[in-house]
Amino acid sequence: MLYNGLPLMLTAHLLASAGMDHLVCIWNVWSRDQKKARVLNFHNAAVKDVKWSQQGHSLLSCGYDCKSRLIDVEKGFETQVFSEDQIVGVIKFHPDNSNLFLSGGSKGHIRLWDIRTGKVVHSFNRNLGPILDVEFTIGGKQFISSSDVSGSNVSENSIIVWDVSRQVPLSSQVYVEAYTCPCVRRHPYESTFVAQSNGNYIAIFTSNPPFRLNKYKRYESHGVSGFPIKCNFSLDGKRLASGSSDGCIYLYDYQSSNFVQKIKTSDQACIDVAFHPVMPNAIASCSWDGSISVFE
Ligand SMILES: *[C@@H]1O[C@H](CO)[C@@H](O)[C@H](O)[C@H]1NC(C)=O
Ligand SMILES: *[C@@H]1O[C@H](CO)[C@@H](O)[C@H](O)[C@H]1NC(C)=O
Repeated sequence: MLYNGLPLMLTAHLLASAGMDHLVCIWNVWSRDQKKARVLNFHNAAVKDVKWSQQGHSLLSCGYDCKSRLIDVEKGFETQVFSEDQIVGVIKFHPDNSNLFLSGGSKGHIRLWDIRTGKVVHSFNRNLGPILDVEFTIGGKQFISSSDVSGSNVSENSIIVWDVSRQVPLSSQVYVEAYTCPCVRRHPYESTFVAQSNGNYIAIFTSNPPFRLNKYKRYESHGVSGFPIKCNFSLDGKRLASGSSDGCIYLYDYQSSNFVQKIKTSDQACIDVAFHPVMPNAIASCSWDGSISVFE
């Protein structure tokens, strides 16, 4: 099985992963005798992203078949399909309205979908390269996008903060380094967000206008080296965890940006990390070869 950069998404005790083998898997990661609880086979091509709905009854997944698919996990069937003209690389539910989700894809289109009608409510277009990540800010009136700037001379659009209802960018040239950012995450309660940069560091920005990069603060003990490595905050916002090209989870202190600890997970790059939503000291990771590990 070949899983390249499999994304993780935890709900209370189940973890979902998506893979190059077209499958979405649900894992009972916290049980002793493991582990794979369910395999969902709805996509006709590699799956790029998967997200739990707010209540944890459904999973939304997307991928190379140019579709996002909503799956009722208990019943095990597909309840809705959202078709696009692009490979769908990333999806994200609206934080305050679980009927809405964003999708971003290979042609640089970002769309806000309404599950009730199955239609696009808003679209966000700016001649961008492939969309690598999207993340709502607190309250969901704005979101941040990251797009691939490696094929273009204009790197100033790699990170954009958008107004959801007006469909316009609110930011201007937030990040002008010629590095692509495979991941953006907002802080759980402060007005900041971070971007994982291919320049081998995590950059931090304010998520209020004028959306400035903090030039004096970086989280920079880990390597990215071109892998789609993700990072995220702990539930209490005090830690920032990141995967790394050397196969370790790196933990940083959010406030000081100091490196705190690293945990070896695999000989391959560590691609994604997820804190347990209830137990603050438990963290799961997945590596480039598809293995999933859990640490306490
Ligand atoms: C980048 O700029 C160079 C010189 O200005 C131009 O020749 C080239 O076509 C540009 N490449 C892209 C992808 O825009
Ligand atoms: C990031 O972490 C927060 C809280 O720690 C969690 O609510 C959120 O779902 C995580 N995001 C992703 C994409 O895993």
